Amino acid sequence: MEHILEVDNLNVYYKNKGRKDDALQHVLHDVSFCMNRGEVLGLVGESGCGKTTLAKAILGMQKRFDGSIRLDCANPQMVFQDPYGSLNPAKKIGWILEEPLRMTNFAMKKGEKKLSHEQRVSRVDEMLGKVGLDIKVKEHYPSELSGGQRQRIAIAAALLCDTTFLIADEPVSALDVTIQSQIIKLLLRLQREFGISILFISHDLRVVYQMCDRVMIMQKGVILEQGAVDAIYQNPKSDYTRLLLEAANISA
Ligand SMILES: Nc1ncnc2c1ncn2[C@@H]1O[C@H](COP(=O)(O)OP(=O)(O)OP(=O)(O)O)[C@@H](O)[C@H]1O
Ligand SMILES: [Mg+2]
Repeated sequence: MEHILEVDNLNVYYKNKGRKDDALQHVLHDVSFCMNRGEVLGLVGESGCGKTTLAKAILGMQKRFDGSIRLDCANPQMVFQDPYGSLNPAKKIGWILEEPLRMTNFAMKKGEKKLSHEQRVSRVDEMLGKVGLDIKVKEHYPSELSGGQRQRIAIAAALLCDTTFLIADEPVSALDVTIQSQIIKLLLRLQREFGISILFISHDLRVVYQMCDRVMIMQKGVILEQGAVDAIYQNPKSDYTRLLLEAANISA
C-alpha cells in the first residue's frame, strides 16, 4: 500500500441512549482522506465535531460504521489529552514501560528472540533519554508525575512498541504553554528520528502550524477542506476555517 492510511467515505453512527426507537446519531459524514508515510497530518475542529470518533474508527474501536478504513500498520498507538487514564495507576513507570516489551508480538521482530530482562531495561532507559526524562522516574507511580512528565511517558510507551503510526489526540491541550511547546518539539524530533506518521488532533491552529505538513478542517463530522498547512492558512476556502484563523489571531 502506497499510503499508510486510506479512509474512504467513512460514516460513523452512535446509538442514542434514552431513545426508544432505533435512530442512530450520524456523527461522521463521508470522511475521505489519505496519509503518506512519515507525514504529520493535522485534524482541527470544534469540540464535539467528531475528531476522537474518527481516531477511534481508525483504531478499529467503532462498531457502527460504513465506508472503508485501510491502515498499513500492525500496532498503531494513541496518545491522549491527559494520559493519566491510559497509565495503570497501580504500577510504577518502569513496569508500565516494560510491559509492551514483555509481549512477544512487540518484542520479536523477524528472527529476533524474546527480549531478556536486561534488554528490556536497556530499551526503556534509552527511550527515557530520548523523551528527556531521568531513569529515576521508573521508580514513581503515574500520580507522582507532572502532566508534562506523564505525557512524555505516554509518548515513550507508544514509541517502545516500534509503531509506525501514532494518533495524538489533543496531546498538549491539558498542559501550560511552556510545557506545550516542549512536548511539541519533542514529538517533532521523535517523528523525524523514527519516521513515524502522526495524525495530530488539536483545536489550536498555531500548534498545528508548528507540527503538521497538511491539515484537515472538520465541522459537524464533515471535512470542509484539506491540504498543505500553508495553502489552507493563506487561502482558506470555507467561512468556518476563516473564522478559526481569525479566532486564533492568524491573518490569512
Ligand atoms: N460513545 C459515544 N456514544 C454516543 N455518542 C458519542 C460517543 N462518543 C462521542 N459521542 C458523540 O459524538 C459526537 C462527536 O464526539 P467526539 O468525541 O468525536 O468529538 P471531538 O471532536 O473529539 O470533541 P472534543 O474536541 O471535545 O474532544 C458528539 O456529539 C458526542 O456527544
Ligand atoms: Mg476529542
